[in-house]
Amino acid sequence: MGATRRGADVHRTAITGLAIDAEADRLAQAIDGRITLVHADGRVVGDSSVDGPELASLDNHLERPEVRIAREGQVGVVERYSTTVLADMLYAAVPARHPEIAYVRVALPLTTVTRQVTRIGAAALLAFALAAPVAIGLAWLSSALLSRRVQAIASAARRYGAGDIRRPSHDYANDELGDVARVLDASVQDLGRRAEELARDRAQMEAILSGMVEGVLIVNRQGRLQLVNRAAEEMLNVDASALGRLYLEVIRHPDISAQLTTALGGETSPPHELPLGRDASRSFVARAAPVSLAGGGGAILVLHDITDLRRADQVRRDFVANVSHELRTPLTAIRGYVEALIDEPSDADHTRHFLDIIARHAGRMERLVTDLLRLARLDANQEPLEITNCDIERIFRTVVTDLTPSIAAKEQHVTMVVAPEAGVVPVDPTKLHDIIRNLVENAVNYSPERASVYLEAHHRSGWVEIVVSDSGPGIPPADLTRVFERFYRVDKARARPGGTGLGLAIVRHLVELHGGTVKAENGAEGGARFTVTLPAQPDA
Ligand SMILES: Nc1ncnc2c1ncn2[C@@H]1O[C@H](COP(=O)(O)OP(=O)(O)O)[C@@H](O)[C@H]1O
Ligand SMILES: [Mg+2]
Repeated sequence: MGATRRGADVHRTAITGLAIDAEADRLAQAIDGRITLVHADGRVVGDSSVDGPELASLDNHLERPEVRIAREGQVGVVERYSTTVLADMLYAAVPARHPEIAYVRVALPLTTVTRQVTRIGAAALLAFALAAPVAIGLAWLSSALLSRRVQAIASAARRYGAGDIRRPSHDYANDELGDVARVLDASVQDLGRRAEELARDRAQMEAILSGMVEGVLIVNRQGRLQLVNRAAEEMLNVDASALGRLYLEVIRHPDISAQLTTALGGETSPPHELPLGRDASRSFVARAAPVSLAGGGGAILVLHDITDLRRADQVRRDFVANVSHELRTPLTAIRGYVEALIDEPSDADHTRHFLDIIARHAGRMERLVTDLLRLARLDANQEPLEITNCDIERIFRTVVTDLTPSIAAKEQHVTMVVAPEAGVVPVDPTKLHDIIRNLVENAVNYSPERASVYLEAHHRSGWVEIVVSDSGPGIPPADLTRVFERFYRVDKARARPGGTGLGLAIVRHLVELHGGTVKAENGAEGGARFTVTLPAQPDA
């Protein structure tokens, strides 16, 4: 009983003897194999292949290899040639819990097993053959789809990397990959916006810096040049290659270097005036101050070109000195003669002579003040242009008539030539009269007796040229441009007491007010030649 207690649960009760053998037959039929039921002592008590009476002739089965394994409580599976059924068989034996049956053995001809295994194999192969292409196809399809999307994302990323941050035209799908791509895209767009803002700010700053007339220069804490605008490049005679280098190496002006050194030390030095540039005639004011830069401290230097300021200042000073001098000369004379008259009263002729001199000097002073006031009005833009169509020849005639006493006194000869197309020009008549009068007056005054004075007007491609020339001594070439300066006279000693030295300055002012130009030359056959060019159309 102990050996069978662990076996399979076969019908316990009613089966005995023939019934057991019949049961073996029934089971064998159900599984289409051979069933052998073995008693605990090794006797075969039932077998589907052997019938009742022959059962007793069967060998003791205890030593059969599969039963031996079953006796140890396991499932014994063995392949062997059966002498009973005369075929290769697969045996499987298990212990059973039954009073008559200790072991149940199933035997299947190996051919059946092989056939079944082959059938299963074939079915598996068929299933594989059917499934594999579909699986491969699906895998290829999904990997191709995936790879195309990854490619698209990669190409967008490459485009972003190259600086083109236009949004990709396709929409990302609603899965994890799409999320990744969207997040990537959004952050790139955000970065792009910021980069754009930065670039805009930078461009703005660069435009301001390069448009500035002041030179600007920035060095970092290490003393390396971080920024040099165009004006500073020119003033300090450095180029763009100076960026990143030490200012002590690049800037050859000890004053500026010293200022930067002070500023890098955290202190602001007082503005310093110094000559700079290719011609040392220009003056600059340099001012350096410490600044805080992204990478720490630094210094900024600003250079102002004050040459024009200085020059204007000088001109003003000279002008005041000239005016004082010009006024003092007649004043001194007047005072001298007045004192002489007071001190020693003399005869009527003498007195008359003195009074004439006084009157002449007073007249000169008056002309001087008149011219000065006129220039002041012109400087202040207080003489607006009143343009009308004027007959040039008439203006010529008026001027010559005005000056006839002087011309006649020197027996000079005046020639007027007005080209027909230059007859009528749009100008301010009083101003053109003053221009021509000043020029003719000079020609008469600075030319000797019996000299010739020429007045011409002609048309030249949209402009009217008025030329006043004479057969006098002309003007030394070096003075040709300077004669238009205030109080400039070629020869101070020779200067007529009547002249103020302001006539040509007023002429230039009036001509420029018309949008024209005036120049002084010497004629081919000697003599001075003044050419006034005025626009022939009012709005030209
Ligand atoms: N036609 C000319 N011939 C020679 N010198 C001239 C002539 N016109 C002008 N100049 C020179 O130019 C100087 C400036 O002329 P202007 O401004 O009219 O002053 P002013 O006649 O009062 O001296 C004159 O002093 C003179 O030396
Ligand atoms: Mg004059």
